[in-house]
Amino acid sequence: MNKIKKIGVLGCGNMAGAMTFNLSKNLNKLGSTYQFHLYTPSKTKALKLCNDISKYVETEVHDSISFISEMDIVFLGFKPQQFKEVSNNLKKLINKKTIIYSILAGINIQTITDHLSNENIVRSMPNTPIKIGKGMNLLSFSSELSKENVSELTKLSKLMSPVEIVVESSLDLLTPVSGSGPAYLFYLGESLVSYLVKNNIEKNIAENIVKETLAGAASLWADQTDTSQTKISATELKNQVTSKGGITQEVLNGFDHKNLSELIHQSLDLGVTKSIELGKL
Ligand SMILES: NC(=O)c1ccc[n+]([C@@H]2O[C@H](COP(=O)([O-])OP(=O)(O)OC[C@H]3O[C@@H](n4cnc5c(N)ncnc54)[C@H](OP(=O)(O)O)[C@@H]3O)[C@@H](O)[C@H]2O)c1
Repeated sequence: MNKIKKIGVLGCGNMAGAMTFNLSKNLNKLGSTYQFHLYTPSKTKALKLCNDISKYVETEVHDSISFISEMDIVFLGFKPQQFKEVSNNLKKLINKKTIIYSILAGINIQTITDHLSNENIVRSMPNTPIKIGKGMNLLSFSSELSKENVSELTKLSKLMSPVEIVVESSLDLLTPVSGSGPAYLFYLGESLVSYLVKNNIEKNIAENIVKETLAGAASLWADQTDTSQTKISATELKNQVTSKGGITQEVLNGFDHKNLSELIHQSLDLGVTKSIELGKL
């Protein structure tokens, strides 16, 4: 019989909560049996998550982190700013064989190894669409992880959302695009809605129009099921909407006139700098 594997979750907020929920819901697709052990200081979010997932997997909520020494995998799901404080307690408890699955933005594998004396680490950068099993989870593995561990962690991650394996050195660059990326679409949505509302369109109608337009456009880009082998790029899809001398062209000219694309690139540079800063504890 397969050994029951224990997954500890430290911090059950937006991201770790959504990831644990997806994982537990889909775990029956794998041959192994897993148990979840949850901890948050206030207990509220851990209890809610326990309630949500206990119909899928065996789950327990803990009052302290003393259970950590028995875990096969531990998710780090709290804020990066809390890492230093949490790692002081965690270091005394964590087993050297335990695999650490960290979603902490900016905190690199070497820093985790230095603070926890553990070399089995997967660094993950998910984004909020993981709540519905979509979006992107970027993964980087420590070189000490065995092939079997990498394979298991990849399989587990693919149960939560699409996955891309990347070199760790690219994560500071990728995080502002992928981890933060959904916020830019919502920023655009917010701006389009406020434009309509400012011009006397009822708010709920404006929101519905913008939401369905952006969601439809994103689905069109993602839906590459046509029989031609070539993927349609964002540029091509944009060009399909843009007739020469038409309305779309006029609006895009306005964006280009203010060099919006360059402004986006400069702002992303600020995000890269922030990611590097977060990594300096
Ligand atoms: N939000 C995103 O789009 C995004 C994208 C990629 C990566 N991330 C990463 O995901 C992580 C969590 O972000 P979030 O937005 O999910 O935060 P969140 O919703 O605020 O959740 C944080 C959780 O951490 C718990 N916590 C606080 N102190 C703790 C401690 N000492 N030990 C264990 N747990 C503790 C909190 O517990 P209480 O409920 O008791 O306060 C809460 O459940 C961050 O490291 C972030 O960098 C976020």
